[in-house]
Amino acid sequence: MKKDFKILAIETSCDETSASIVVNGRTCLSNIVSSQIDIHTRFGGVVPEVASRNHITAIDNVVKLALKKANFTFRDIDAIAVTYGAGLVGSLLVGVSYAKAVSYALNIPLIAVNHIYGHIAGNYLSFPDLVPPFICLVVSGGHTAIIEVKDFNHHKIIGSTLDDAVGESFDKVARVLGLGYPGGPKVDALAKKGKNIIQFAKPNDNLGYNFSFSGKKTAVINYVHKLEQAEKPIPKEDICLSFERWVVDELCQKSIDACKSLGYDKIVVAGGVSANSALRESLYSECEQNKIKCFFPDFQFCTDNAAMIGSAAYYAYLDGVGIADVSLSPNPSLSL
Ligand code: KG4
Ligand code: ZN
Repeated sequence: MKKDFKILAIETSCDETSASIVVNGRTCLSNIVSSQIDIHTRFGGVVPEVASRNHITAIDNVVKLALKKANFTFRDIDAIAVTYGAGLVGSLLVGVSYAKAVSYALNIPLIAVNHIYGHIAGNYLSFPDLVPPFICLVVSGGHTAIIEVKDFNHHKIIGSTLDDAVGESFDKVARVLGLGYPGGPKVDALAKKGKNIIQFAKPNDNLGYNFSFSGKKTAVINYVHKLEQAEKPIPKEDICLSFERWVVDELCQKSIDACKSLGYDKIVVAGGVSANSALRESLYSECEQNKIKCFFPDFQFCTDNAAMIGSAAYYAYLDGVGIADVSLSPNPSLSL
């Protein structure tokens, strides 16, 4: 292995077109993210066909900007990494095709990365000394899980959602309140002005380390619909905070229980919902009380970005996993 291993990483699994240059899995020289939020906002969510068409328009410029910002040309990179799942098939296809073409043209290795392993690796960029083993709480728009990260490439699922992902439930609550897309940051902001006074009809579940967010989302929707039918005002701020506290308390309690019972001393949070301010505040403070070290990625590495893919790719390459070739296809339902 060369002294400095420089990876060009590409991420197009949903509605962000992103490219990044990452050195030795830990140093991010550039991380360009072209968001399509403005385009999808008017539809209230991501429209897959529209997303893939916009990736096609954006990708070449995004890659060139990432190279330029790092002061690189294509000739300076040692490998190309790409997210090949999970995600929207048409969106993944754009990144995968682009990466295959670059790998073939430059005759450099192609590294296929699982999007969720990428989210976990966002923390390796934020904390240069962080190494497994640890417990990871994955909270994104498509996944929610507690994972035992035994090594860079060995993960074991301890618990996961049985229905909706936590980010998805934030988005759906935002939608019923008319807050727009993506909903998580909007619920987060409004919750800061609210009071935690609403007792939603709580499903009586005993799920161990698993989660269920569909019932919580439905409880909020039913609460709002009842007020609408009675033509009463909707206390949006209180609804946001009461829902957020309900979700955050469960995420904190289960990840701390898992960490303690499995004998770990670190909890690492990954995925878009790691940007949530209530989750950050509560988990930091509860971990401190339990003598557990707690890690949240820098904000730029919370939601989808290519730098996290470049970091995960480096550790995959070191262990000889994920090495792909021109036969690589996207896997929209790739599991953890
Ligand atoms: O990880 P991510 O960027 O994409 C997926 O891999 O799914 O996560 C996006 C999710 C969305 O559901 C979004 O609403 C949520 O992360 N999110 C938040 C916050 N920022 C993003 N949820 C709650 N609070 C936030 N501040
Ligand atoms: Zn993601």
